[in-house]
Amino acid sequence: MRGSPKKIAMPFAKWVSYLDWRWLLFITSPLFLFFLFFSPPPSPSFSSFSSLPHFLISHAFQDNSTFASRDESVVRSRIAVCLVGGARRFELTGPSIIDNILKQYPNSDLFLHSPLDKDAFKFSLLKHAPRVASVRIFQPQPLSETESEARVLTALHSPNALQGLVQYFNLVEGCLTMIRSYEAKKNFKYDWIVRTRVDGYWNRPLEPEHFTAGKYVVPEGSSYGGLNDRLGIGDQNTSKVALSRLSLIPALDSAGFHGLNSETAFKAQLTTQGVSYMTKRLPFCIVSDRRYDFPPGEFGVPVAALSSPGPLSGAKCRPCKSACKGKCVDRAMAVLNRGWSWTQWGDGSLRLCNASAGWEDGWETLFDKVAGKKFAAARKRIQTMKLEDCLRDFKQLKKRAVTWKAPPATDICTVGLAHT
Ligand SMILES: *[C@@H]1O[C@H](CO)[C@@H](O)[C@H](O)[C@H]1NC(C)=O
Ligand SMILES: *[C@@H]1O[C@H](CO)[C@@H](O)[C@H](O)[C@H]1NC(C)=O
Ligand SMILES: *[C@@H]1O[C@H](CO)[C@@H](O)[C@H](O)[C@H]1NC(C)=O
Repeated sequence: MRGSPKKIAMPFAKWVSYLDWRWLLFITSPLFLFFLFFSPPPSPSFSSFSSLPHFLISHAFQDNSTFASRDESVVRSRIAVCLVGGARRFELTGPSIIDNILKQYPNSDLFLHSPLDKDAFKFSLLKHAPRVASVRIFQPQPLSETESEARVLTALHSPNALQGLVQYFNLVEGCLTMIRSYEAKKNFKYDWIVRTRVDGYWNRPLEPEHFTAGKYVVPEGSSYGGLNDRLGIGDQNTSKVALSRLSLIPALDSAGFHGLNSETAFKAQLTTQGVSYMTKRLPFCIVSDRRYDFPPGEFGVPVAALSSPGPLSGAKCRPCKSACKGKCVDRAMAVLNRGWSWTQWGDGSLRLCNASAGWEDGWETLFDKVAGKKFAAARKRIQTMKLEDCLRDFKQLKKRAVTWKAPPATDICTVGLAHT
């Protein structure tokens, strides 16, 4: 799948940079010849000057090769892919994550950190993941809320109050802990950590150009006053700061921050620790069952149709017959506050759902049509899964995982499939 856009795009880019240099050589060489034949006798500095065309040529070749190898080096690098969150609609998102992230990078390892709930059995789909480093599925417990957390964070806009935020931060930071202990055990360090969510639906591959050395990369838009925290890509240094969501709260407290939501806390984490970041458009959306007023107001939430061409940079989405496209999207999006739920919608990338009610009848067919046969098959497998299928798949998944901390498969499968 990665091949198709890539194999066309890469040679073209190479071709252009090659042409640029050829063109430069073409116009500079007559000048050089002129200089060579009509210049004063060689001076000591001449010899170094005579290497100019050679410099240009070698630079042209070098440029070409570094261009190719930078791309290749990301593809070949060691990448920890950290997936966090509940499995809610994993039958829709899981296969897209496997194909568009894990299978794109042959040296990427999966880390899963998730609570046990009635949907956790859907993680059985991960038996198709190429490399599974570590799985941690845990019985959720209320976490104590510290005084500094209560001072720094606000429960406003968080669906489950302060506890919800603390649980989420714990999921994210726990993934860093899992990666660290795996690295210690295997005695190596990952080059990159991709932190993403279980409920992300990817409609295109994660590309090498989404990785930027020395900067923490986050999706554009959906910034809610801070920075979009639905995905992050960084090296060891930047990821350490970005994923330390609980342990940096005291630092934010001493820096005088208060009333932060997830996104503003995330931004404060990076800025107080001197981590520079950049935003990019990334080809995923967050599949959500939540209802939102339509059309959205200034601080409302736009819900994208899963069939939108994208990239949606982590905006909320669901399978729907789009209620709004083209000019209607222009009008609807112009209302949104740029620093809040706004997302980039240019080039027809976005179509909107009327998400004021539950998912519409026939959403399955809409999904299958967009996602294709293979993903549709995974959706159906989960929808019709029997207890024994689940047990068998979990057994296979467990065998593939290097580290496994989870309740017995019978617990995970029966919680979700007791009725079948
Ligand atoms: C660019 O690199 C390719 C291999 O990646 C090579 O075949 C080609 O000759 C190079 N072209 C230039 C102008 O360096
Ligand atoms: C990460 O931080 C260490 C220590 O501050 C530094 O030596 C190293 O060069 C940094 N690595 C990268 C890739 O920025
Ligand atoms: C959105 O959907 C709701 C419920 O299905 C409906 O009542 C409402 O009229 C719709 N809004 C628009 C603007 O289409």
